[in-house]
Amino acid sequence: MLRRLYHDQPESFAFTEANQTWAEAQITKYPEGRQASAVIPLLWRAQEQEGWLSKPAIETIADMLDMAYIRVLEVASFYFMFQMRPVGSVAHIQICGTTSCMICGAEDLIAVCREKIAAKPHQLSADGKFSWEEVECLGACTNAPMAQIGKDYFEDLTADGFAKMLDELAAGKVPTPGPQNGRYSSEPLSGLTSLKEYDSGKTQYNASVQLATDIGDTIKRIDGTEVPILTPWVGKDGVVAGRAAEGQPPKPAATPKPAVKQAEEAKKAAKPKAEAPKSEKAAPKTDAADDLKQLKGVGPALEKKLHANGVTTFAQIAEWGADDITDMDDKLSFKGRIERDGWVEQAKLLAAGEATEFSKKVAKGDVYED
Ligand code: FES
Repeated sequence: MLRRLYHDQPESFAFTEANQTWAEAQITKYPEGRQASAVIPLLWRAQEQEGWLSKPAIETIADMLDMAYIRVLEVASFYFMFQMRPVGSVAHIQICGTTSCMICGAEDLIAVCREKIAAKPHQLSADGKFSWEEVECLGACTNAPMAQIGKDYFEDLTADGFAKMLDELAAGKVPTPGPQNGRYSSEPLSGLTSLKEYDSGKTQYNASVQLATDIGDTIKRIDGTEVPILTPWVGKDGVVAGRAAEGQPPKPAATPKPAVKQAEEAKKAAKPKAEAPKSEKAAPKTDAADDLKQLKGVGPALEKKLHANGVTTFAQIAEWGADDITDMDDKLSFKGRIERDGWVEQAKLLAAGEATEFSKKVAKGDVYED
């Protein structure tokens, strides 16, 4: 199946307030310059919220992580866990069709999907509540046949039991994930033959099912209200643990530049700069565009957006007041970023010809670029 952007896209995407808070906290897990590492968690959260990944969602996440849109699209379209087209509003069922599951009855489960949901994979059911697809091994082979719905595995399925489960879902019920034949996890059907001492004191369900059941984090769409915003590495004061006292984590060693790049740069440096006309020389700095990427938090994508909004110099940013920041927050679709990264303070220094820690890194070529 071709994995590409769906032909019918929504106008926009925004995380719910709680999910936005969660997403911004995820970004703080990674060292400066490595925020792109948060791309999969953020895409997954967007999918949990909306059911699938639209173009606006991909672009919003790219802006949040200062990545080129194509880089995020590459990730979203590569992994089959990401849905590139609308899915059922209640559940998208992923049936494992690989060897163990196929031998144990996956084809019967697919027949149920065809009968109860839609004739073809990725088609929505008539009521729009369900969709399905066949996927490769999901790593639960000892509990074959199985299906994944959202984050949960439903294992040891039979065609009848699976059909009943779909009816329950359609009726608004949330079935309990895990083995559906009475097994606790993946022990022998006839019962344990060893490690019996670990059989006592266990919870009602196996660990993953118990957790999913306890926090109510199962089939239904996530909007951030169902689960606690678990970001223990961020203190109540908003400071990331371990960074306040010791500063930012050590910077990774700079990747040596390829010889060709070095030669190009040397050539550039040796080239005499064209004399600017006197009037231009005397003109204030605001007449020439600054390299806004010297501001921590501004990468190529955001710089482009700033230019599109008429912002090209440090001096302009240095003069922003609260209203300007609110206005620009809206235009950049990333509320809070300007204040969080201290753009105005940085811009004041840079406009005055001084350097910041971050601009020094940029000058040395130590900042990761997508
Ligand atoms: S073959 Fe189905 S989970 Fe591995």
